[in-house]
Amino acid sequence: MQTSSGIPLLTPQLPDRAALQPYLERIDHTRHYSNFGPLVLELESRLASRFSDQGKQPLEVVTVSSATAGLELALTSLDLPPGSRVLVPALTFVASLTAILRAGHLPVICDIDPHSWLLTPDIAEACIASSDAKAIIAVATFGQAQDTLRWQALQQKTGVKVVIDAAAAFGSQWLLTPDIPVVFSMHATKSLAAGEGGFVVTGNSEQRQMIKELSNFGINLNPDTQHPVGHLSYAGTNAKLSEYHAAVGLASLDTWQQQADARQAIYHRYQHLLQSMCGETLVWQHGPLPAAPTTFSVRVGSDARRIKLEQLCAVQGIGTRRWYQPLLHRHAAKVGPILHLPTPVAEAVSSDLIGLPFSPFLQDGQMQEVAANVLAAVSD
Ligand SMILES: Cc1ncc(COP(=O)(O)O)c(C=O)c1O
Repeated sequence: MQTSSGIPLLTPQLPDRAALQPYLERIDHTRHYSNFGPLVLELESRLASRFSDQGKQPLEVVTVSSATAGLELALTSLDLPPGSRVLVPALTFVASLTAILRAGHLPVICDIDPHSWLLTPDIAEACIASSDAKAIIAVATFGQAQDTLRWQALQQKTGVKVVIDAAAAFGSQWLLTPDIPVVFSMHATKSLAAGEGGFVVTGNSEQRQMIKELSNFGINLNPDTQHPVGHLSYAGTNAKLSEYHAAVGLASLDTWQQQADARQAIYHRYQHLLQSMCGETLVWQHGPLPAAPTTFSVRVGSDARRIKLEQLCAVQGIGTRRWYQPLLHRHAAKVGPILHLPTPVAEAVSSDLIGLPFSPFLQDGQMQEVAANVLAAVSD
């Protein structure tokens, strides 16, 4: 048996206390800890400029306590009739599903593209016809960006509303159209990390305002409406981002580019090493390399090989995870009513998909150790 000191599946990179200090000093000074404080507003404004520059149009940002909350509130802001059917791909994190249920709607689980592993506008269009869906959660799976212009075209053609779940796609997912909200995560495992947190980008000021109010219990914050400020407009929740989380998010943003470069370079070397050792046996998600990858998943050719690899890794303390598995409909039986359309591609992808260790700290020797195990598992 090989010896190994172990390789963690994932090691978060967050700002250290020196990087946090200037922001924490500002909190000490203002004594503003939550409720849309100056650091939250600064983070929203810096992110909005970044997205507006890239999207070449004015875009706005509202922070929330997590991407999960952001998805629920973005869906709520669509003002769909209760119980509306909402398409969601089978291969995604469970939060894409729970957000639909918690917003009072019925998830319709659908298939993915065999190459990009994404729910695409073409797949969605076929599913709308068979399910009468009123909205879609299009996921930027494993950080692979969704094409917002193609989604906008589908939204305009069908009237079906689109929300993009770009939880892990900061740096890759941009918004080239104002009318589709995009939700990002700032969880510790993401490249722009605040510990916990998230934000929604939209070009629609009314939608941003509604999401902000929904994140603040549903209290009306807008003096320009008929409704008095301070009275409830909606049955919202508390999904505000605290000043402490905003401090971490701002410090993380200060050095994000260096982290993204490191993540991309490591991903590239790692993938190249595995390809050179295992060749055609491995199947990767098609599409451009994400700007700041946070996970590393590959198809190894069969469930038997995957099990062998998991066993080899387990005895050496090398972390693996079947990311986004089981598929959503296998969870859903326990948590709520769903509709499940045929998902043969997602079933095939999830039959041999495995996540290997990945972080900005991964050393070349560790990559070689993982690769040796992958080679052993696929050499049958
Ligand atoms: C696709 C997807 N959606 C939603 C989430 C939830 O994000 P958060 O932890 O910020 O709620 C994740 C988390 O990894 C995710 O991968």
